[in-house]
Amino acid sequence: MNQKAFIFDLDGVIVDTAKYHFLAWQKIAGRLGINFSHEHNEQLKGVSRVRSLDIILGLGGVEAAQEDKDRWLIEKNEDYLGYITNMKEDEILEGVVPVLQYLKDNNQKIALGSASKNARPILEKVGILHYFDAIVDGNDVTNAKPDPEVFIRAAQLLGMQSEGAMVFEDSVAGIQAANVADMVSIGIGDKTVLHEAQYNFNDFTEISTEFLEQLVKN
Ligand code: BG6
Ligand code: MG
Repeated sequence: MNQKAFIFDLDGVIVDTAKYHFLAWQKIAGRLGINFSHEHNEQLKGVSRVRSLDIILGLGGVEAAQEDKDRWLIEKNEDYLGYITNMKEDEILEGVVPVLQYLKDNNQKIALGSASKNARPILEKVGILHYFDAIVDGNDVTNAKPDPEVFIRAAQLLGMQSEGAMVFEDSVAGIQAANVADMVSIGIGDKTVLHEAQYNFNDFTEISTEFLEQLVKN
């Protein structure tokens, strides 16, 4: 069997932490009197912490001093850490582990490509760190998605070409990043939101071993 690179985003793909990011941002936005809805939240998916705050402030037309922004960033992360502290295996999204196991059993290369600086501890908490041959997260990159840096670095660390690597993503920014890097973009979530993806699935339970086999062969 051929060997290919499979790159997974974390938040909203492997674990349902997108809801925790949303709750933590909503508190900050609420305190600043900014209306921040689930629709607005789509713009934040895959986007770095710093950029996320700027987007929220932009929604409310709020200008703030750097020291205030720095404080809110810390507060948001502390709040978020509170949500993730007790995360366990049961917060892995359905269908993810069978796909990881299938890839492992078939000698495929697996990497994480996430914007989050909290990625590694989350993988540890939910007990799936051992599946990953490489991890690239928010601590390693300078350019956030839709820039393809995170995925290109992941492919490099795996010792594989970027072109033709597979990327599982739940964010518009991440799908765009994969497409820019000539990777195969696989959208996980709402197809209407992720219409730029090459393939779309609602979740990993819809991903068959036949589909994975076909990806490896192509
Ligand atoms: C991405 C999330 O994976 O990581 C974003 O989709 C989040 O919502 C970003 O802002 C940064 O995460 P963290 O954990 O470093 O604040
Ligand atoms: Mg995501």
